[in-house]
Amino acid sequence: MAVSVLAILLASCALAVASFDKEFDITWGDGRGKILNNGQVLTLGLDKVSGSGFQSKHEYLFGKIDMQLKLVPGNSAGTVTAYYLSSQGPTHDEIDFEFLGNVTGEPYTLHTNVFTQGQGQREQQFRLWFDATNDFHTYSILWNPKHIIFMVDDMPIRDFKNLEGKGIAFPKNQPMRLYSSLWNADDWATQGGRVKTDWSHAPFSASYRGFKADACVVTAAGRPRCGSSVGTEVAPGTGAAGEWYNQELDLTRQQRMRWVQSNYMIYNYCTDPKRVAKGLPAECSM
Ligand SMILES: *[C@@H]1O[C@H](CO)[C@@H](O)[C@H](O)[C@H]1NC(C)=O
Repeated sequence: MAVSVLAILLASCALAVASFDKEFDITWGDGRGKILNNGQVLTLGLDKVSGSGFQSKHEYLFGKIDMQLKLVPGNSAGTVTAYYLSSQGPTHDEIDFEFLGNVTGEPYTLHTNVFTQGQGQREQQFRLWFDATNDFHTYSILWNPKHIIFMVDDMPIRDFKNLEGKGIAFPKNQPMRLYSSLWNADDWATQGGRVKTDWSHAPFSASYRGFKADACVVTAAGRPRCGSSVGTEVAPGTGAAGEWYNQELDLTRQQRMRWVQSNYMIYNYCTDPKRVAKGLPAECSM
């Protein structure tokens, strides 16, 4: 009896998006980060004194993680909204989205990077095909044993493949937490640091909603349990973890990604002449 009631509760909860109170801690910013509307919305703030940030309560080892963000509107020059997965320590793994603000009317830059065992410098940057400040848009990370796929409103923009067979490290052993922060980076962020933050527009604010994690969560005992953030749990690799666990881009989605990359990519570490001169990382030629 008790068991079936619980099962019904879990099944109905699985349809809802997770609440920010249950999934995240605001870790810094002295009140500039807030959880609102019964846990349905989170906002981060930045003023001259401080930015703010939050992190997930859980650590993940693979997952499909969706979050809707609405970025700092108007003159956001100098501000950076970082949204990323990261493990700890000197040989950490990291999967990054960073949104670099701009002066009013000029486009944001979406910066992406992947660190494997402490080694990053795999930057790809994009323009967005919409105004990321007047509405929420979904930014997703699909991280499974074979791929790290970055998506914007379900449109794949980057696919970092597991090429361990060719001697290239891939994140797969270190659990990662989800982090986000809004901070001042006017020494480099906007137009190479030439445009500074205009504090007369402060406080700056970015909003989050619609967090959804179909992921393997590492339990206190150190064992990953997979499933939706509020649903049933299964052991990883059993197939029941979810379609995402074995997902890769089909031909149609590969074509879409190529379309985004040829129209909206503005920087690629694999074609940077300065990097080419020094010798490119091995994955660039694969
Ligand atoms: C800001 O706008 C300028 C001019 O359009 C552009 O060159 C730059 O890449 C944009 N983004 C950032 C973060 O500077």
